[in-house]
Amino acid sequence: MLAIFLRIRRFAFPRATMVSSKTQNMKTPTLSAHQFRKALGHFATGVTVVTVERAPGSVRGMTANSFTSVSLDPLLILICVEKRAAILPLLEKKKQFGVSVLKEGHEAISEYFSKGAPSAEAEQRLSIHYRWTPSGIPVLEGTLLQLSCEVVASHLAGDHTIFVGKVAEAEIHDGRPLLYFGGEYRHMARRPAATT
Ligand SMILES: Cc1cc2nc3c(=O)[nH]c(=O)nc-3n(C[C@H](O)[C@H](O)[C@H](O)COP(=O)(O)O)c2cc1C
Repeated sequence: MLAIFLRIRRFAFPRATMVSSKTQNMKTPTLSAHQFRKALGHFATGVTVVTVERAPGSVRGMTANSFTSVSLDPLLILICVEKRAAILPLLEKKKQFGVSVLKEGHEAISEYFSKGAPSAEAEQRLSIHYRWTPSGIPVLEGTLLQLSCEVVASHLAGDHTIFVGKVAEAEIHDGRPLLYFGGEYRHMARRPAATT
């Protein structure tokens, strides 16, 4: 039955009656976690690295594509962090974080920050350099967009915590984004010039 669903690429989800922070025990009986991840992989995203200062001058980062803009007034964004992620207690404690949007060619940086275990040697090899914003939040130099945020709300949602961040500073740079689709890194293609 599920194989048929997969072939026609249409999934039936149980009707959600309410979206709230009390969804820890919510089950989706028609889909396994693997199938759900595969389905959601059909939504193309950029790739960010979320950063928190864990000790003076020392940074913990995590690759995240759950980054979303939320509000213009006030300026709000959100990220979702898995309950086992090493960065989670730091986010809860520091209540501020950076978001750096990766560029094309930053695949190895994305992989590094998705593998846990920080390493000074790897950061040197990958030319990872941090910049501290005026509000004292670390972000990654050389990225497309760097935001510093203060946590204004957090919500438990299943096995993730949603952190809503109020944006204090933003710095934008030229370049092309690294994309993520179907579990793979992608590059943005230019639309071919219109022929007359
Ligand atoms: C492209 C990509 C996007 C990811 N997005 C998220 C995310 O939004 N939230 C999250 O909790 N983990 C996300 N992850 C997984 C984390 O990066 C990874 O589990 C974590 O860094 C593992 O290390 P840690 O447990 O030591 O923190 C993503 C991984 C990749 C490769």
